[in-house]
Amino acid sequence: MTVRVGIIGAGHMGRTHARILVQDKRVEVVGIVDIVPQNAIRLADEIGSRTWPSLDALLNERIDALYVTTPNTLHREPVLKALDAGVHVFSEKPMATTLAEAAEVLHAARRSKGIYQLGFNYRFAPVHQFAKKLIDNGSLRPFHVHIKDNRGELIDPPWVGNPKLTGGYLYESTIHTLDLIQYLLGEIKTYKVVSRSNLYPELDDFALLFEFSNGSIATLDSCAHASWLYPAGAIEIFGDHATLLTEEMDRVRYTTGLGQEVITHDYTQYPQPYRWGYVEEDRLFIDAVVEGKPSVVPAEDGYRVTEIIDALYRDGGQAGEGSGNG
Ligand SMILES: NC(=O)c1ccc[n+]([C@@H]2O[C@H](COP(=O)([O-])OP(=O)(O)OC[C@H]3O[C@@H](n4cnc5c(N)ncnc54)[C@H](O)[C@@H]3O)[C@@H](O)[C@H]2O)c1
Repeated sequence: MTVRVGIIGAGHMGRTHARILVQDKRVEVVGIVDIVPQNAIRLADEIGSRTWPSLDALLNERIDALYVTTPNTLHREPVLKALDAGVHVFSEKPMATTLAEAAEVLHAARRSKGIYQLGFNYRFAPVHQFAKKLIDNGSLRPFHVHIKDNRGELIDPPWVGNPKLTGGYLYESTIHTLDLIQYLLGEIKTYKVVSRSNLYPELDDFALLFEFSNGSIATLDSCAHASWLYPAGAIEIFGDHATLLTEEMDRVRYTTGLGQEVITHDYTQYPQPYRWGYVEEDRLFIDAVVEGKPSVVPAEDGYRVTEIIDALYRDGGQAGEGSGNG
């Protein structure tokens, strides 16, 4: 079976997925749509595809799957259109930027013949897969987790500083970590939040505290203006006299104590699309389409993280607390 794929949004992520998909012999990228025609033409020329003037025209091409790689608040409309047409959808994060819109996508995904997969690539980065295996096989009991998840700025690309297009800073990078901690630790039971608007006209600094249903506790600090000093993101998981420590998605170290080896995996020589989990998430999406398997990041997971962000913003500016996914 050849999976006929269309792409809407020919910027950074449209290009990233397109370059991966053309390496997969099961896939043909049959068309690209972008509101800026030049962007679509440039990508189509690069990968040997063609452009279409609108999403409707692309859907009329009887595509099997649509990649939605437009800015954040512009995912909902093409996703709903494709799901309602029975087309499989891979959507970049976020699923939506309000709870009501996330519910719409969730219900559309449940009714559709198409599979819905959300782009939470952090899960599939080798560093995080290493942590997931240790937790799942019982080697690492994640009693206490300490996370830093910073951005350098809200300037590049320009729309990331516009909450009308992002939905707010938490829907940018922090959403990945809010998904990842639930992937690793399970359901969030309670949260506390203190946030500030320091340099941008939106909340750009968050200090968060979580308690999980499995008893784990976690702190997460997320700053939107930290200048990209390496490592901008790091996770420390403290277990039974054990520590696992990640540096971005480049390196992970793990030890069970003094006198023991520090097991180190260093992926810095791997190509970035593999190191960041994009290659794996795309392979799993095409596997699901070809083999009729369930989505590895279903709409339910997108709704769950939207619930948390919605609650954090509801309590925003002030110290707030509440119970988790409900
Ligand atoms: N998973 C990740 O690691 C990751 C990384 C970066 C961005 N993203 C997400 O990917 C999405 C795209 O981000 P990007 O960095 O590629 O942005 P970008 O600005 O590089 O590309 C967006 C493209 O969408 C086009 N576009 C805008 N409105 C459109 C519309 N109505 N119809 C058709 N095309 C439209 C733009 O012209 C542009 O070509 C965002 O939702 C972002 O949050 C995810």
